[in-house]
Parts: sequence; structure tokens; C-alpha cells
Amino acid sequence: MKHKCNVVIVGATGVVGLELLKILAQRRFPINELRLTASDRSIGRTLKSGHLKGNLQRLTEEVFDGVDIAFFCAGNSVSREWAHVAVKYGAVVIDKTGAFRMDKDVPLVVPEVNADALRYHKGIISSPNCSTIPLVMVLKPLHDYARVKRVIVSTYQSVSGAGLKAITEMEQQTLMRLKLQIPNLKFQISHSPRASRNRIFPYPIAFNVIPQIPQSNAFCADDYTDEEVKVINETGKIMNNKSIRVSATCVRVPVYHGHSESVNIEFARPITPAKARQILAKSPGLKVIDNPARQLYPTAAEEAGKDDVFVGRIRVDRTVKHGLNLWLVGDNIRKGAALNAIQIAEYLTTKAQRALRSQRK
Ligand SMILES: NC(=O)c1ccc[n+]([C@@H]2O[C@H](COP(=O)([O-])OP(=O)(O)OC[C@H]3O[C@@H](n4cnc5c(N)ncnc54)[C@H](OP(=O)(O)O)[C@@H]3O)[C@@H](O)[C@H]2O)c1
Repeated sequence: MKHKCNVVIVGATGVVGLELLKILAQRRFPINELRLTASDRSIGRTLKSGHLKGNLQRLTEEVFDGVDIAFFCAGNSVSREWAHVAVKYGAVVIDKTGAFRMDKDVPLVVPEVNADALRYHKGIISSPNCSTIPLVMVLKPLHDYARVKRVIVSTYQSVSGAGLKAITEMEQQTLMRLKLQIPNLKFQISHSPRASRNRIFPYPIAFNVIPQIPQSNAFCADDYTDEEVKVINETGKIMNNKSIRVSATCVRVPVYHGHSESVNIEFARPITPAKARQILAKSPGLKVIDNPARQLYPTAAEEAGKDDVFVGRIRVDRTVKHGLNLWLVGDNIRKGAALNAIQIAEYLTTKAQRALRSQRK
């Protein structure tokens, strides 16, 4: 890969695409030429962040001509249709969607956990689900110390995880309830045909908690949701360990940004909360905020917009021989999506730069 890259963002106007643009500018990613694409309705708009600026172009084969890195964040179907086209034109695809995550030829990478897997890519690299990323960042260092046997995770996922329209839906429902003083939001929402046609969530999300993610898909045969299956399968793939048993319940909460997770871990070997705090505090990308006496622990509202994953409430699970409970919070748009994808790209480009330097010697 060249020193400065030609980069395309597919899905640049979405929640993830806009954050990608912001972080590429913030981290001064070495860009030669930037191309932006979205659906037809956005063609002609201009996006700007810091020193980076671009006009939205139609998604065609030509968009990928000469591109080194193609970030895909326009949904599964767009990735399935276009990622191989980008690879054909010589680009490395970093895919934020679920289209290829479990394909055996596609590395699924969180750089702090399994950057090594990048060596085996064949043009497409997947970035994991926004709930899986913070989970494996916490599990990996604890596993290296005490061998994880079983994990029970319950997620509390923000609405931004469902895209821009979902944020608007939460805001509108909240306003309806507060400004218009509609007491029975459930009645109002389910009896408005227009609202139900355009609705993202199957139940009101304002002042509610919905145990179904994603909201649009049918439940799987055994009544798990797709998101729960993703967390379970992706964790096994990234940890490269099929023997770790994972059980997941994924829940949407009326929070703008930041996914929280309650995690129960059973280990094969002893580990104290103090040791876990020490290990996690030293692990890249993690910050421990855990002082019960001072009521200090991470919350989504406090930690949204930050790069790290935050861990607290680390305590003994009294029901098993070696077990811990903990609470984690990570910004689903940053580390859960855009930042992780950019870190993958940085890894590829710095590796390439190092290779170039050693060739010149
Ligand atoms: N949000 C998260 O926390 C998160 C985290 C991890 C992964 N992801 C994944 O990332 C992807 C994007 O999520 P998002 O939350 O950013 O969604 P979003 O806010 O709904 O944005 C979707 C983007 O895709 C574009 N798009 C839609 N249909 C298209 C088409 N046919 N051709 C080209 N572009 C098209 C949209 O363009 P227009 O604006 O023109 O419609 C927009 O730029 C999804 O696969 C999601 O599962 C999201």
C-alpha cells in the first residue's frame, strides 16, 4: 500500500460514515484522495470534517478505480453487491456491516485483540459488531490470565446503533410524550398508520426498553435475535476459541450514544477483582473506572464520544468457583464502528510503510 492512500467511504452520510470522516480528519489519516458515496438521494451533497471535504458521488464501479482502502458502512446488501467489485479494482475493503463477518476467508479484527489475523486477508476485512468489540477487548486479557469458560452478557444498546432514522424516532417520540403531553405513547404510535409505516422500532423506544435487536429481522429458529447470534459467534471467531461458551441477550435502550453491557464470566482458574482491575487497566484501549465507595463506574452518557472502552463494577460472582461480574461501556459509533475500522486501516498502512522503509535500506 502507498504512503498516502486513496480512500472511499461507502455510506458516508450515515451515522457510521459521518464518524469515519470525522475520525479520519482527527487522526490525520494519510489520505491522497477521498471519495464519498451514499444512496442516490444524497448525490451532490458535500460533506466536510476538519481538513477533509468531498462531494457525494453515485456508487459505480469507477468509484473504486485507483482506491487503496474502501470503508463499507451502507448495510449488508450494499456490501454484498459492491465489496468484491472494490477488491477487483485492487482496494482493501474494511467492512463495518455483517455481510462477511463469519466467512472463513475474511478476518474479523479488533486490532487490540487479534491484529495477527490481518495477515491472512484476501481483500476483505470485517470489523465486528458494536457489542462484540468491547466485549472481546475485556475478555481477551482476562482469558490470557485465567481461561474464560463461560460468558453471560446482557447488552443495553443505544439507538444510534440502529442508524440516523432511529435517533430521530426516539427524539420525536420523546417530544410527543413531553411537549404534546400524550400520556399513552403506545396507543398513539400503534394507531398512526403513517408512523407505523416509517417506524424503525416495533415498540415505542422513548421511555422504554426493547429486547429485540435488530428491530427489523424475525427471530431465529431458537428464538434468539440476529444480534445475539452475532455476539456469540463473533466472540468465538475473534478469540479463536470455540470452547468458550457465550450466552447473550441484546436490548435496545433510549440512549443516544454508547452501548453498555453487563458481563458475567466464569473462569477455569482463580482471579480476584483486584487482579482483574490490574490486568484491564494495563490493556490497550481499556480504562477502569471502579470505585464503589465513591460511586464511580462508567455510564454511557459520561463516556460517549471517547475512544476507550470503560470497565467498572468488577466484583465476585458468588455462585461459581471462579467467577466475576462486571459492567462495560463503549461508544458504539467510535470504537464499536468507525474507530475500529480506521485502526485496522492504520495497521495496514503503517505495516506497509515499515515494509517500504526496510526495502529502501
Ligand atoms: N450505528 C452503529 O452503531 C453501527 C455499529 C457497527 C456497525 N454498523 C453497521 O454499519 C452500517 C451502517 O450503519 P449506520 O448506523 O451508519 O446506518 P445509517 O445511519 O442508516 O446510514 C446508512 C448509509 O448507507 C447509505 N445507503 C443506504 N442505501 C444505500 C445504497 N443502496 N447505496 C449506497 N448507499 C446506501 C445511506 O445513504 P443515504 O444517506 O443517502 O440514504 C447512508 O449513508 C450497517 O450495516 C450497520 O449494521 C452500525
